[in-house]
Amino acid sequence: MAQLEFHDVSKGYKAGDVEVPVLIKVNLEVSKGEILVILGPSGSGKTTLLNLAAGIDKPDEGTVVVGSRDLAGLSEDELTRYRRTRVGYVFQFFNLLPTLTAKENVAVALELLERPDDEEVARALHRVGLGGMGDRFPHQLSGGEQQRVAIARAIVKRPALIVADEPTGNLDEETGAEVFKTLTEVNRDAGSTLIIATHDAKARQHADRVMRLKGGKLEEF
Ligand SMILES: Nc1ncnc2c1ncn2[C@@H]1O[C@H](COP(=O)(O)OP(=O)(O)OP(=O)(O)O)[C@@H](O)[C@H]1O
Ligand SMILES: [Mg+2]
Repeated sequence: MAQLEFHDVSKGYKAGDVEVPVLIKVNLEVSKGEILVILGPSGSGKTTLLNLAAGIDKPDEGTVVVGSRDLAGLSEDELTRYRRTRVGYVFQFFNLLPTLTAKENVAVALELLERPDDEEVARALHRVGLGGMGDRFPHQLSGGEQQRVAIARAIVKRPALIVADEPTGNLDEETGAEVFKTLTEVNRDAGSTLIIATHDAKARQHADRVMRLKGGKLEEF
């Protein structure tokens, strides 16, 4: 079953008076549980594509369908709910709150849903190999550990879709490989759908399918 579909999705941005196309009639179907890696150079539209899938941005043309619902048909409240409950986002710069501990950073995702659950938080941290580090602040963790906290935060609400935007962009090669491994293993356990956008070709070995963004088009790699 398709978890996510793009039908002829186009998106561009205005640069002064001219509209610069970023995605041009992109079609995509991602199955439930699939791990898709999207490769593409800087500026090719990877983040744009993830934001459309996450309901953070809207297409200029075409439709984004999630679990058979067209996102364009959702009210703003429903869209907010979709983002908070169904989507886990892992960012290149981790985006942890520096004044909160690892545990608290993960807990925020459930608090936003008014569903606090310390046991789920502990389980998520344990799952990414940080069982003993919940009380540390981000500055007391290595880059790889911080990204694991961010993965725990993304998975704690058990989202149907996880999107990861350059999740290893700030990590050395070895740590990056570990993070890809954690991310994909956790995803397989949870049965969620995972889309990783990256220019790190090493992500390919963890993928079910690899695609490439080029000239606004999404191609099989
Ligand atoms: N909000 C915006 N307003 C104007 N232009 C934008 C906006 N967001 C993205 N763009 C432009 O769209 C193009 C694609 O951007 P996007 O961030 O999707 O690329 P990317 O593949 O993620 O690049 P990177 O690998 O550097 O993160 C770029 O040329 C960028 O400048
Ligand atoms: Mg990007």
